[in-house]
Amino acid sequence: MSEAKRLAGEKAIDYIEDGMIVGVGTGSTVAYFIDALGRIKDRIRGAVSSSQQSTQRLQMHGIEVLDLNATGPLSLYVDGADECDPHKRLIKGGGAALTREKIIAEASEKFVCIIDPAKRVDVLGRFPLPVEVIPMARSLVARQILAKTGGHPVWRDGVVTDNGNVVLDVHNLSITDPVAMEALLNQIPGVVSVGLFARRPADVVIVGGEPPLVL
Ligand code: A5P
Repeated sequence: MSEAKRLAGEKAIDYIEDGMIVGVGTGSTVAYFIDALGRIKDRIRGAVSSSQQSTQRLQMHGIEVLDLNATGPLSLYVDGADECDPHKRLIKGGGAALTREKIIAEASEKFVCIIDPAKRVDVLGRFPLPVEVIPMARSLVARQILAKTGGHPVWRDGVVTDNGNVVLDVHNLSITDPVAMEALLNQIPGVVSVGLFARRPADVVIVGGEPPLVL
């Protein structure tokens, strides 16, 4: 799949405009996008990064990483996904960067999602849904997720997010109403964010291939 990821990441360069500050997501597909961005770095003013991992890669290419509080709204955000449905609603957070990804997506006018073909699904939920949780609320949130959704939360043991929190991966969900599920889980005290991008889906999805498919 890495060839499909590379083709998707490189295609997203089409959306770069001169002088832009680019929102940058996290993951192996985004790594290809960052490498391509490095080759045209003189055209952009900098980037806002969703993780320490992406920050390191951006800086390795000599791209300045800026604070979202200083940039104001962004015109473009490019990120990967773990699943994508026909309405461009996503599951994200396989790399545990979901909260910062959600913040940057919300701050951006256009969200371009880059995926390989295996990420396309009819109904979200085969990929366990990541939920970022304040550490002291882990058991409480797990019990409530089970009671409210019937899904089975599994603690991603050993993983601490860039924000100092933990991640629960919710298995056995078939998410037929992603907007309602996102709202339901967001209401549980202790939940920081949910890896469902349904209320704010992607605007454009690029599926890597020869040629890439733009949805
Ligand atoms: C990071 O937290 C995730 O949201 C990634 O965007 C997602 O896991 C996709 O990763 P890959 O591009 O590595 O498949």
